[in-house]
Amino acid sequence: MSDRRYTRNDLKSELPDAHFIDGARHKAVGRETFPTIDPSTEETLTQIARGRDADIDLAVTAADRAMKGEWRDMTPAERGRLMFRLADALEAEAERFALLETLDVGKPVKESLGDVRGVCATIRYNAGAADKMEGSTIPLGPGFVDFTVLEPVGVTAHIVPWNYPLGMVARSVAPAFAAGCATVVKPAEQSPLTALAFAELCHKVGFPPGVVNVVAGYGEEAGAALVAHPMVRGITFTGSVATGRKIYMNAAQGLKPAVLELGGKNPMIVLDDADLERAAFDAIDGAFGNSGQVCSSSSRFLLQHSIAEEFLDRLAQNAKKLGVGPGLDNLDLGPLVSKEQYDKVQSYLAAGRSSGARVRLGGGRPPALDRGYFIAPTIIDRVDAGNVLAREEIFGPVAVAQLFDTIDEAKALANGLGYGLVSGVYSRDISRALTLARDLEAGSVWINGWFIGGVQAPTGGIKESGIGRERGLPGIRNYLSIKNVGIRL
Ligand code: NAI
Ligand code: MG
Repeated sequence: MSDRRYTRNDLKSELPDAHFIDGARHKAVGRETFPTIDPSTEETLTQIARGRDADIDLAVTAADRAMKGEWRDMTPAERGRLMFRLADALEAEAERFALLETLDVGKPVKESLGDVRGVCATIRYNAGAADKMEGSTIPLGPGFVDFTVLEPVGVTAHIVPWNYPLGMVARSVAPAFAAGCATVVKPAEQSPLTALAFAELCHKVGFPPGVVNVVAGYGEEAGAALVAHPMVRGITFTGSVATGRKIYMNAAQGLKPAVLELGGKNPMIVLDDADLERAAFDAIDGAFGNSGQVCSSSSRFLLQHSIAEEFLDRLAQNAKKLGVGPGLDNLDLGPLVSKEQYDKVQSYLAAGRSSGARVRLGGGRPPALDRGYFIAPTIIDRVDAGNVLAREEIFGPVAVAQLFDTIDEAKALANGLGYGLVSGVYSRDISRALTLARDLEAGSVWINGWFIGGVQAPTGGIKESGIGRERGLPGIRNYLSIKNVGIRL
């Protein structure tokens, strides 16, 4: 992984600024625009087409036409081949996509490059699975043949957040392509650039017009119109609980299924027999990777009393080595995505300080950086269970530590919130870890590692962390509907 610094001139292409609909760039119907900002400099990068109902209608109608045309007649294997071509083309342009992402959201270029590679892997996994999604035969008994056919659900809507802008697009459109759906993507208003460039690339490698459409704009305008459009037959959303709830209610009006991934407040439980070096190493990426703007980050450290001090010392030592700076400088942490996120994290830090919790490291803006939405890696302990820092998703580089004595206390803390995305356990005793895992209310449990998984492993939440699963083969089933065919002999 290259640690070199980049400049704006390394991006040897223009910034995309128009919707991509039916195989072509489109200005907004109302000719309106909105700015996209470089959070490292606080400067406007460019003005982007601002979509509303009319733009969404063009995109959904194009997708619906695609569903009835060439796309429908391609074999699953042919769709897979097209997707492999897409992954190869993206790999060849990885640096351009990474620089676009870094400019738009501030993450270090090496992280953006890693994200693009992850997107290639996602596309290839789904490409390979396109012709392996099988129906079943149903034993009705003599005199009948009954079988199921898996069919694409139709036009699907993909509303994505800004923390992994291209990654979140690929996570949901790649399985949709594998299933044979045509898609309309609404990127986050903070981060439209890579989604727009991606749609063009799909077109370049030969996707039929209308299979992938991207309409930029705000959630309440373009996003809500997309969910409500009568020709949309399925919705996938990643983002906040509050917005997820709105989208689910909007989807319910049209009786549309929705897959919702709504974040978490994920406990990393470190038991007294844990490998502390391992745990404190993983905790760096867990808490500070992508500046903490990760749904599955280790945003709570639940530490058994006897090892708490040693764990926190090790964590602080590791965290002190992290470099913070503009994404193009390619250090360890970039800025937060927007002023809104920056203000939100600062207000959490202020609330934490006034509650009597102890700031062991960081606690705000790094003194050397006078512009950009930067927050230094922060470690806060002596946080009690009622503190907002222990209850709410901060979505910033803030590690929050709570102590416990017994396993029952750890369970109560871990399960005590509305969220249920990920829980993690560190222990050298696998029986102890697995016994605890059984009682953890979460869609994923990670033992002695953090961010375990990949495109092959299903992910998603229970409780308020969401509905449904993405990735793996279940991720493709979201886009398939079962048709049962019964025959009397
Ligand atoms: P958000 O959930 O409001 O935005 C995510 C996406 O939903 C964006 O594309 C947005 O335009 C769209 N959207 C917003 N309102 C909509 C509506 N009524 N109908 C359709 N689409 C709509 O998230 P926001 O406000 O950017 O961030 C707030 C908090 O959400 C963060 O601080 C973090 O805690 C959480 N979050 C969680 C993410 C995750 O990975 N689960 C990702 C991003 C944010
Ligand atoms: Mg931006």
